[in-house]
Amino acid sequence: MQKMWAGRFSTQTASLLDQFNASIMFDRKLYAEDIEGSIAHARMLCAQGILNIEELEQIESGMAQVREEIESERFEWRIGDEDLHMAIEKRLTEIIGEAGKKLHTARSRNDQVAVDFRRYVLRKNRELMLQLKALIAALLEVAKPHTHTLLPGMTHLQHAQPINFAFHLMAYASMFKRDIERFESSTKRNNISPLGCAALAGTPHNIDRSMSAKELGFDSVSINCLDTVSDRDFALEILFNISTMMMHISRLAEELILWSSYEFRFVELSDAYSTGSSIMPQKKNPDVPELLRGKTGRVFGNLMGLLTVMKGLPLAYNKDTQEDKEGVFDSVETAQISLEILKEALLSMTVKPHYMYQACKVGHLSATDLADYLVKHCGIPFREAHHITGRAVAKAEELGIDLSDMDFETLHAIDARIHANVTEFLSIEHSMNARTSEGGTATLRTMEQIIYFEHYLKD
Ligand code: ARG
Repeated sequence: MQKMWAGRFSTQTASLLDQFNASIMFDRKLYAEDIEGSIAHARMLCAQGILNIEELEQIESGMAQVREEIESERFEWRIGDEDLHMAIEKRLTEIIGEAGKKLHTARSRNDQVAVDFRRYVLRKNRELMLQLKALIAALLEVAKPHTHTLLPGMTHLQHAQPINFAFHLMAYASMFKRDIERFESSTKRNNISPLGCAALAGTPHNIDRSMSAKELGFDSVSINCLDTVSDRDFALEILFNISTMMMHISRLAEELILWSSYEFRFVELSDAYSTGSSIMPQKKNPDVPELLRGKTGRVFGNLMGLLTVMKGLPLAYNKDTQEDKEGVFDSVETAQISLEILKEALLSMTVKPHYMYQACKVGHLSATDLADYLVKHCGIPFREAHHITGRAVAKAEELGIDLSDMDFETLHAIDARIHANVTEFLSIEHSMNARTSEGGTATLRTMEQIIYFEHYLKD
């Protein structure tokens, strides 16, 4: 098979080279972007008098046929064609003849691939933002009935202070909102057109880069061609943004795994999103959150992979850059299915408030409330209050009870300045609802957070 660039070559390439060099088996995913990019380029060439109207029409109808062949899986993808750009151009020329050979005027595969890949990434940014919004909506749906549902808030994975379940879920809504903002800002920064940069230095043809940029939905035209044909920051950004998002997903996954264990029993994952054991008939395994946690690893790896490819590349385009695609495709696919399945797993799980409450009754969750009470109601300095509370906790341990269940007499015996109203301050409900500062866990504050995210989703 004759290569498109074979003019200066005297022998055929080795088939091993063809296999090694080709990107066609994976970059064909970019076919829509490639065809749209070519059409925008052709329209611009026509507007500039470089192609005539008949040639443009032939290119447009030829490309429609190519697209149809690809989408109906009749298109023949051949390793020997090297990449999708050449395969599509070659097929176009087979279909329409001479006009097809003019399409590559004032263009190089270097700006072409930069256009295609950038537009793919921008499209995926948008899809991921929508999926993240759907995930936040699911969190809200799960959270809403649980603004009074108590569970132990933890630090160091040790019981710390009582919180409500909705408040816990809104922490994740906050993380996912930041993720959306990262995809948003990356989209804004990178929505610039590489088309017309040609190989590296621009072109002597009288082109109109703004026109093709507009046609393709870019906000503007890139500033420096040398940078543009070798810039893969947009790809690194989606890899980083997905990594951070998967890190958040992995943290939630870890909690779901803990919560669905017998030690916690805070939630039960639905049968539809759990798996069994091939040997132990009693088992119901949280494979979904485990895989979410596990897949985070490959996504981090893809980010490291591309950073490493890019480091040390001299300007401008180098073939190393062809290694940018598979990792991005893999991270995007992993992220998209992860977002979908996490949403479904959340919506279908059963929340177990009873076990959450039970867990609140161990670990003296209201100890901080006793110290705060001693400061606010008995005029005792915090350091001393901390010490008195420590003694109360030791007493509770000795009696085998939780501090929240300690009676007034026992507390009074520890420090005579304690009043009879102390017990109401020690209840778990009171403790949660006492945290009324902005962003706190009190039911009313949690409701504010829910409303905040509901508004955010509406905008
Ligand atoms: N397949 C190549 C890639 O993915 C397209 C650009 C090739 N450019 C070149 N000068 N060889 O990067």
